[in-house]
Amino acid sequence: MAEPNKPRYAQPGDKVLPGKPVTVNRYGPGARLNHWITASSLILLALSGLALFTPALFFLTGLFGGGQNTRALHPWFGVVLFISFFVFFFQLWKANLPERVDWVWLRKLRDVVGGHEENLPELGKYNAGQKIVFWAMAGLILVLIGSGVVIWEQYFSAYFTIPQMRVAVLVHSIAAVLIICVFIMHVYAAIWTRGTLRAMTRGTVTGGWAWRHHRKWLRELAGQRKAGPAE
Ligand code: HEM
Repeated sequence: MAEPNKPRYAQPGDKVLPGKPVTVNRYGPGARLNHWITASSLILLALSGLALFTPALFFLTGLFGGGQNTRALHPWFGVVLFISFFVFFFQLWKANLPERVDWVWLRKLRDVVGGHEENLPELGKYNAGQKIVFWAMAGLILVLIGSGVVIWEQYFSAYFTIPQMRVAVLVHSIAAVLIICVFIMHVYAAIWTRGTLRAMTRGTVTGGWAWRHHRKWLRELAGQRKAGPAE
């Protein structure tokens, strides 16, 4: 049975801040730093990976000091991404667990795109789109690091055969293309939903934003305020 006072959506540090306008803490400084390290490492990883992917994009190696450096640096960007994403992952995974309401939200995608939020169900901290991006990124990063190790000749060439490495190159490239698509969707959604970017820059959103997009999360935080602050 669910514990009565246990927060379902609120995470440590999430808090309503009274004022004009009311703002709501969504990410603390640690989580934001973690997010931007993740974002920077994925951008560097994608640029260096694309440079090695096709001769048409080889010019991108100029950003990393030439072909040799790009080849040496690319796997290390991957290691940074892997570590930093999973530190972030363990802070957020519970709030990204699927719920029945996510199916309702997905079925009403027309209203999401058309801006008819009044027809959508009330949501916790994340919507189904954000959850799909979250789990897709987690899965693809695992596939990328796994296949990346198989083709990281400098350290691991003794452990894998050439046919295994060929399969790994293919898997690695497909996962890379997919994560770049997911990344573009994520950034597009963050810019398209007005008032979202400040969650990752300042750490806060407005009360209006929370009411409009994540009302169950806001209600829970407001309830905690009435019951006394959970610092
Ligand atoms: C320039 C690139 C990026 C921008 C502008 C951006 C922007 C944002 C914003 C505004 C949020 C807060 C959304 C909210 O709380 O409602 C967010 C959350 C998040 N971002 Fe990014 N992001 C970028 C890159 C990345 C990358 C590369 C990854 C992972 C590989 C990533 C993973 C996440 C995750 C996991 C969340 C939490 C949302 C969830 O758990 O569903 N972001 N991002």
